[in-house]
Amino acid sequence: MPKIRTVYTCQNCNYQASHWVGQCPQCGEWNTFIEDVVVSQNSKSGSHAGKGVTIAPIQLSKISTKNIKRLSSNISEFDRVLGGGFVPGQVVLLAGEPGIGKSTILTDIAKSLGDKKILYVAGEESPDQIKIRAERMGYPAENLFILQESGVEQIISVAEAEKDLALIIVDSVQTIYSDEIAGISGSLPQVRGCTQLLTMAAKRTGIPVVLVGHVNKEGVVAGPKVLEHIVDTILYLEGDPQHMFRMLRTSKNRFGPVSEVGIFEMQEKGMKEVKNPSELFLEEHVAGTSGSCIAVVMEGYRPLLFEVQALTIRTSFGYPRRTASGFNANRLQVLVATIEKRTGIDLSGHDIYLNIAGGFKISEYAADLAVCIAVISSVKDLPIKEKSVVYGEVGLNGEVRRVSHTEKRSKEAKKLGFEIIISPETAKSLNEAVSKALSKGYNLDSGKHAKQNTTESKRYNAVKPV
Ligand code: TYD
Ligand code: MG
Repeated sequence: MPKIRTVYTCQNCNYQASHWVGQCPQCGEWNTFIEDVVVSQNSKSGSHAGKGVTIAPIQLSKISTKNIKRLSSNISEFDRVLGGGFVPGQVVLLAGEPGIGKSTILTDIAKSLGDKKILYVAGEESPDQIKIRAERMGYPAENLFILQESGVEQIISVAEAEKDLALIIVDSVQTIYSDEIAGISGSLPQVRGCTQLLTMAAKRTGIPVVLVGHVNKEGVVAGPKVLEHIVDTILYLEGDPQHMFRMLRTSKNRFGPVSEVGIFEMQEKGMKEVKNPSELFLEEHVAGTSGSCIAVVMEGYRPLLFEVQALTIRTSFGYPRRTASGFNANRLQVLVATIEKRTGIDLSGHDIYLNIAGGFKISEYAADLAVCIAVISSVKDLPIKEKSVVYGEVGLNGEVRRVSHTEKRSKEAKKLGFEIIISPETAKSLNEAVSKALSKGYNLDSGKHAKQNTTESKRYNAVKPV
């Protein structure tokens, strides 16, 4: 078994002491020491040094990856984020807010793994609760073995003794502890030390391990941000608990692409993968309503269509409100200022409410143009032309800027039957885009400010580098 030692580490210069000190003897900073753990391999299982073994570098081209056999979860959206399934000995951290559906998705994976044997370490729930969940999901759970144990050393010895284990699930990492480490379970040294021990066990046995980790309000895996360096893969399960859609994102993956996204729907009988997300998101979209605009946004390498909704009403008291749900409120303020200045539309007397339908969060700048058009469509009470989609970044000068993956976005829009694509390729300025998007041939170029901008931009274009 590897040895664990408690040390105190200076957060400023990384100096380590065996006991807590107020001032760091190395860098002189005060109150920078935190309790930490160091896990060291014993000489038998660690490096080859000192064993009389000749150590030589291996030519990379001679290393074959063909023999790596991935364990498919049989859920294509989950495999997509993993990069094709679990790699032997892979340690995956599944993070998310409490109640978002982490245990549910893992139960779904256990169900879809069929007869493959899974060890489920239950630290949060009793076996009864897990049984109720499985029953609710119509899962007989014959391949699922529950271990109600919090001691990490005991968990590892059970996992090593069990035969033919395909996967170990630890729900959650904040509930397990080691007697060798100081502090209560969930504390930084405990979580870090236990994760290191489990990672070593995973590498030794070749069994993939999924660790569940809760995130706090700031969206950081509670306390142990340090875990991110230990594990191979980090998946975040996100979504608005009020809505049924959930997104599974990769933020780190040693065995596959990052920024991949899997989309799921929380249903009565567990988490169902969504194979045609855009179609589903647009199901409730009512064409011909003012303030509604369809945006094409990239989620990882996949284009998705979202409905951006804006509602503008006259401000009743002095200061106009700008509220955004699923979109950055500061970005909305910038776009509102750009609209006012570059199109001449006065929004100072309007409250603006922006919403991304379905409870999603959009952070891509490619949604800017759709947000601007939705706001203008609402304030002018003119619907956007039917079968049109929008994407593009809006610059402070009112120009529509290029975004990545234009081909993929257009292809997805056309596949779903959209005919008019308003993008940096078809509109150079916000004014042009709005004129193309709004029905009844609304033309903003007649606006006072718009004219002024045209002269400004001409003057700017005249200055050429020499
Ligand atoms: P859970 O997986 O327990 O969340 P976490 O492990 O992330 O804390 O899921 C909690 C919610 O999911 C709970 O409010 C009930 C709901 N749920 C469903 O809607 N359908 C289901 O089939 C299951 C099992 C749970
Ligand atoms: Mg849970």
